[in-house]
Amino acid sequence: MSTAIILGTRPELIKMSPIIRELDRNGMEFFILHTGQHYSYNMDRVFFDQLELPEAKYNLEAGSGTHGEQTGKMLARIEKVLMEEKPAIVLVQGDTNTVLAGALAASKLNIKVAHVEAGLRSNDRRMPEEINRVLADHCSDFLFAPTEGSRKTLLGEGIPEKKIFVTGNTVVDAVFQNLKLAEEKTTLKELGLRSGNYFLVTAHRQENVDDPVRFSGILRGIEELSKEFDTPVVYPIHPRSKMRLEESGIKINGSIRFIEPLDYLDFLNLEKGASLVLTDSGGVQEETCILGVPCVTLRDNTERPETVEVGSNMLAGTESEKIVVCARKMLVKGKDWKNPFGDGKAGEKIVRVIKMAIGKNPC
Ligand code: UD1
Ligand code: UDP
Repeated sequence: MSTAIILGTRPELIKMSPIIRELDRNGMEFFILHTGQHYSYNMDRVFFDQLELPEAKYNLEAGSGTHGEQTGKMLARIEKVLMEEKPAIVLVQGDTNTVLAGALAASKLNIKVAHVEAGLRSNDRRMPEEINRVLADHCSDFLFAPTEGSRKTLLGEGIPEKKIFVTGNTVVDAVFQNLKLAEEKTTLKELGLRSGNYFLVTAHRQENVDDPVRFSGILRGIEELSKEFDTPVVYPIHPRSKMRLEESGIKINGSIRFIEPLDYLDFLNLEKGASLVLTDSGGVQEETCILGVPCVTLRDNTERPETVEVGSNMLAGTESEKIVVCARKMLVKGKDWKNPFGDGKAGEKIVRVIKMAIGKNPC
């Protein structure tokens, strides 16, 4: 009768946390199965501690590797656990290799799959995340779409209406639940930054940082921006990006301050205080929109078009000139957009559906 929460990376820990809290609040039986896709302290453990998540019952320690190797390891190990545990339902969130492995393992065992953040599409099949989200959606029984737009996308792909639930995105719940706690921390002071007087950068996408031309375009654009506006830049650098930067030999001029990845509360403070955020992260595009902070996305497309539609975000790609042009525009724009990702009650809505699903189909 239990629910298996399968997760493995930083954004899944953050975006699953409101659902885990809600399952707990409802006294429902569940366990966490961690694939071990992320394992460094500041990409993993720190979130368990800070968000007060229950310990994972299993950590499959799949670690890093090529896509096939990593996904294959996870698939085989998840299957083994699911065969022993026989949960009534498996929950996955987002678009990582963990999500694909979790959804596939469960559906092949005829265990119900619920996909949180369903129906997002970049329409760019070269992105590993796009393949993962399409496949996860198409083998899911419950699709929790964050917006009406994502619901329409799923309907357009032939997913039956009765499987789709528009809930909002759990990232809104996570931001609302943690912002007050974040304000108690002195993040900016510790980093010597003044609110409204710095740019925040995150970039880690495979198609950006594994390509030295695109990565150097991003870094040059940001260096130019820092010079033009005489503004400091801080970049909590993802381990993939750090490794690629070191390998590539890309020249940097010292104007970008690279720091280690931050815990969630510190990072929320950095986002909230930034005059502009430049990113290729999915979650950061959403959070800046929720927090009223302008965003420039360092990609050619986005599966979060709502942010562009409401005016919180602009797509710049990775050429330095275009990044500078977009940043100039976003810096003078009004910030009175409305958050399109829901009211912060996505976790409640999702758990309500899961409860009903388990009630109807107990074995
Ligand atoms: C993964 C997801 C991406 C998501 C990101 C969130 C896939 C295909 N990609 O990308 O969609 O946006 O997580 O952050 O699932 N590494 C460490 N420590 C860690 C984890 C990774 O050092 O805890 C390094 C390793 O060198 C590894 C590299 O980062 O090879 C990439 O890790 P991986 O899990 O393959 O993909 P991410 O880039 O993290
Ligand atoms: N984040 C964090 N510390 C950091 C950078 C990001 O806690 O140093 C959080 C951020 O607030 C967001 C999530 O990580 O909730 C986004 O994860 P990431 O960018 O790794 O993945 P994506 O959303 O692109 O899949």
